[in-house]
Amino acid sequence: MIFDRNEKKEVIALLGAGSMGTAIVRRIAAGRKILLGDISEKNLEKVSHDFQYCGYDVETMIVNALEKDSVEAFAQKAAVLGNVMYFIDTAGASPHQTNSEHILKLDMVGTGYAVDAFGKVMAKGSAGLIISSQTGYMYPIPYETEQEILTTPTEKLMELPFIKEVAMQNSGLAYMIAKRINHLQVMKAAATT
Ligand SMILES: NC(=O)c1ccc[n+]([C@@H]2O[C@H](COP(=O)([O-])OP(=O)(O)OC[C@H]3O[C@@H](n4cnc5c(N)ncnc54)[C@H](O)[C@@H]3O)[C@@H](O)[C@H]2O)c1
Repeated sequence: MIFDRNEKKEVIALLGAGSMGTAIVRRIAAGRKILLGDISEKNLEKVSHDFQYCGYDVETMIVNALEKDSVEAFAQKAAVLGNVMYFIDTAGASPHQTNSEHILKLDMVGTGYAVDAFGKVMAKGSAGLIISSQTGYMYPIPYETEQEILTTPTEKLMELPFIKEVAMQNSGLAYMIAKRINHLQVMKAAATT
């Protein structure tokens, strides 16, 4: 395959340049433009160096998934680079790494910001991938609560009584609930965009 360096390439945006995300991007990035976003400059430098060394076309941006403006700026940058055909979100933390509040803010709210922002810039026929977890099937959220979650704006999710009273109890529960809510966020985005 011969690549034209001046061609406007399809864009792959990865939020969270960790182990799973970079493995996914590596498989699909040939001939495409990669935009890596991560809170860690060190991670970005290492991963972009590895990608460039292998011949991939890559740009980086410091992004804080906890901040709506930062995630929106990342989505805008992706759109400026070309047609955003792939968005992958692996900016997350596991229960052994941090506390319930941080898990909910990153894995639930941060993912919500990303789904909201990329829903506005992705090209026709594009695909988004949010890495949830099998733990998303371990704690059934009552139907009425799920409906409430589905109709609550992302920035207000932390204020829901269910989140404050149930999900905050421990990091394991927070993780299961955040990962189940990721399913709802994707379902809502697919239904409304
Ligand atoms: N690794 C597993 O076995 C596994 C299994 C199931 C689900 N998951 C989920 O997959 C996702 C990715 O897992 P991983 O193993 O690749 O994790 P990882 O720790 O290797 O990568 C996560 C990346 O997110 C970045 N990040 C953290 N906070 C951020 C923030 N505020 N803003 C922007 N970037 C931030 C980190 O710097 C890191 O590069 C997570 O959501 C995790 O819960 C992982």
